[in-house]
Parts: sequence; structure tokens; C-alpha cells
Amino acid sequence: MTTDTYQDRLERFRTGRWTAGVIGLGYVGLPLAVTAASRGLDVIGFDIDPRRVAALDGGTSHVEDVTDEELEAALAAGARFTADEAHLREADALFIAVPSPLGRNRQPDMSFIESAAATVARVARPGQLVSLESTTYPGTTEDHLLPAVRSAGLELDRDVWVTFSPERVDPGNVLQTGDIPKVVGGVSEASGAIGAAAYGRLVDNVHLVSTARAAELTKLLENTYRAVNIAMVNELAQVAHAFDIDIWEVVGAAATKPFGFQPFYPGPGVGGHCIPLDPQFLAWRARELRVTTRFIDLAEDINLHMPDYVTGRIAALLNERQRSIAGTRILGVGVAYKPNIADDRESPAIDVLRLLERRGAELGVLDPHVPPDRLERHGFTATEHADDLSEWDLAVVLTDHDAIDYAALAEQVELVFDTRGVYRRKGIDAPNVVSL
Ligand SMILES: NC(=O)c1ccc[n+]([C@@H]2O[C@H](COP(=O)([O-])OP(=O)(O)OC[C@H]3O[C@@H](n4cnc5c(N)ncnc54)[C@H](O)[C@@H]3O)[C@@H](O)[C@H]2O)c1
Repeated sequence: MTTDTYQDRLERFRTGRWTAGVIGLGYVGLPLAVTAASRGLDVIGFDIDPRRVAALDGGTSHVEDVTDEELEAALAAGARFTADEAHLREADALFIAVPSPLGRNRQPDMSFIESAAATVARVARPGQLVSLESTTYPGTTEDHLLPAVRSAGLELDRDVWVTFSPERVDPGNVLQTGDIPKVVGGVSEASGAIGAAAYGRLVDNVHLVSTARAAELTKLLENTYRAVNIAMVNELAQVAHAFDIDIWEVVGAAATKPFGFQPFYPGPGVGGHCIPLDPQFLAWRARELRVTTRFIDLAEDINLHMPDYVTGRIAALLNERQRSIAGTRILGVGVAYKPNIADDRESPAIDVLRLLERRGAELGVLDPHVPPDRLERHGFTATEHADDLSEWDLAVVLTDHDAIDYAALAEQVELVFDTRGVYRRKGIDAPNVVSL
């Protein structure tokens, strides 16, 4: 049933000036807030971390994809950041971008989504759209957000509309939030329509699906697809090595096929806040429904064991030279989970470095993006690129940041183990470089 209010809101979201409230100002929420401001909307960004809010208010961005200039422009356009949730009452739409990590036993940790839902329950008012962006299992929006708005005495489709819209931000990618098509699904038909109208102001392309559940599963399909394909090429890398075939040459050759093949590249495992985690949300919920997820389980098994495989390859390389990991001075190059960013969450590079350390290596790390104090908090000794690197016996390239001079690295360090194929890709031919 649609009402006058619904028509009014639809029109207002489509063409009016309205206020976007963003809950959680991290890698996802901050770009969303800045995009909304740049597209002429009023913005209230709320975060429970008062230091983060103060920094943002002062014009300092903690997200690499949002420059201080872009943040300043958003502030100048009237965007406000606050640690006081009461201000969210002014918002016409609430976009929730809080963390959705895995707990100790790799089960979904819903506590952040639950606390954001509790905020919604306290601030929701008639006329609002509430949209969840945090990656999660199908059914979360219905099970967590809908009860929250109802507990505020609001009726779905009369007073409020509720959607899920997965975030596709890709840290380090030149594509900006507004350029990436957005999938939106509502917990009701009217919610979907309202959500599509609102998101149409934030991004150039909106793809409306029939339900919030379909939107939730879309995100999990995207990231399971990546996890499974990366696992497959990681398995093939091990097979290729056993056959004495260069996996990088083979992937490069297969990629010349103009149809039916998308290249994925091997490496020390998968990292970040998404690929290692998201498929587990699906597997966990599927298990509850007594459905097995063999692809997901297998992909996780292979990807989680890549650090062991990399460590084994390094041990074998040293063994060929009558040496052992114990006592060898090893430089880990790249700690972030992917190139050209500072994010080291779930980074497989850290797992490799810990395994090497446990086997007695004398470790150093070089990462031009991850701040030295963070490296030190992991217990690693940070090395500068400008330093003389010849004191290291072996360098293992774990993340292929562009800022590293790989030719100079191979000139200075006796032996280089390249888990990312960066020497192949850059056409640097050095006899002391061995690839995964
Ligand atoms: N980082 C990515 O590349 C990426 C990409 C796609 C999807 N996602 C998903 O987006 C969601 C957010 O991820 P992120 O990387 O932006 O996380 P983040 O850790 O960078 O930021 C989350 C922010 O939320 C704040 N927060 C936590 N609980 C809160 C609450 N109850 N109320 C208000 N603020 C709260 C934190 O203080 C933090 O500033 C996750 O579900 C993630 O899986 C992330």
C-alpha cells in the first residue's frame, strides 16, 4: 500500500534537498558521506569514536581514498561530524556502515550491527529511510533493522522504509563511490523504491533487486567468487611448481583468451576486511539452515594455508643453499593486504612473517604505506627503503606496492622470493629472484 507520505518521500528523495545520516565513518562510511556532500545533500556523519570525529571535524581524513581536500570541501558544503547520535534525528535517510567482523571462532560478530540498530531504535522518526551497508548474511536487515524501527513505534511502508545496499568500495581503486553501480533491495516493495530513489542521488547507477535478502546475497556472491577463484589459482600455483611450470606465464597466456576466462593471480593468501570474511557469513548461516558450502570451505582451507606454503618454499630455497630459516636475516616487503594502501587487516603477509619468526628468522619489514608505529605494534622492526638493504640475506615480496624499487631490491639483497609475480609483470629479469 502506498500513501501520500510515500509519494512525498519518493519525490523528495528523488529531487529534493535532504539530509543523509551516516552511521560509522570508516573506509565505507566516510567516502559515502563525502560523496553525499559533493552531490548537494546535507550530511550528518556519526561515529562512536570521538577522536575520529574530532579529526574529521578538523579536516583530517583517516581513509586514503578520501583526501583532506575532499573532506574540507564536504565540511565547507555543510557536512557535520558528531559523536552524539541524537543529531541523526535530523536525517532523512540513515546509512549504516559499521564493521561486521568474524569472532574468535570465525562466527559472525553482529555486535556492531546490533549496536547501530539500537541507535536507529533511539533516533528513528517518521519519514526516514534506513539502509544497512555492512556486509552480512541474508536476512540480517529483516532480523535486526526491521525490529529496531518497529521498536521505535514506526510502521514499515507508512512511517519508514528499510533497505540493504552492499558497499562495493575498493580501497586504492581510482573508481569513486559515485561511479560504482549500487545494488539496492528493500524489505518491502515500497522500501526498494524509496531506497532506489535515495541512492540515485548518491551514485550514477542503481540496480534494484526484489528483496533485501537478494541484495545481501549479491555482495556475498561477489566476494565468494573472488575467494574461490583466488583459491583455485593458489592451488594451481602449487601444482605448477611441482611440474616446474611458471604459473605467471600460464595465467598470462590464458588471459589472452577474449572470452570465458578472467585472470586471478596467486599470492600468499587473501586479506582485508572482505574476501577472507564475507564467505564465512554465508557458510555460517547456511550451516544453520543445514546447507553445506563446500566451495567456500575448500577455498578457505587453501587460502588460509598459503602462508604455510610460502614459508615452506622459503625453507626449501634456503635448504638448497645449505641454510635454514633459523638465523637467516629475512626482509618482508609489503605488509598491507593489497598494493598501495595502508590497510593491514587480516593480511596474509603478517601470517607469513609470524611463521618465519617462529622458525627463527631475524626479521625486518619494509612497507611504505603502513605507518612504522603500526608495524612496531605487530612486533616488527620497520626498515626504510632508503636504508642499505644489503644486510638482508633474503627478501620476500608479500605485497606489490608501486612505491618499491624492485630492481634496486634485487640488486641489493642476495635472494628474493616473489609471491606476487611483480618481477614478471614489470619485466625485471634478475637471476636471484624466484617466483611463487
Ligand atoms: N573496507 C572495505 O573495503 C569494505 C568494502 C565493502 C564493504 N565493507 C563492509 O562495510 C562495513 C564497514 O567496514 P569499514 O571498512 O568501513 O569499517 P571501519 O572499521 O573502517 O569503520 C567502521 C566505523 O564504524 C564505527 N562504529 C562502530 N560501531 C559503531 C556504532 N555502533 N555506531 C557508530 N559508529 C560505529 C567505528 O568507530 C569505525 O569508525 C563492514 O561490514 C565491511 O564488511 C568494507
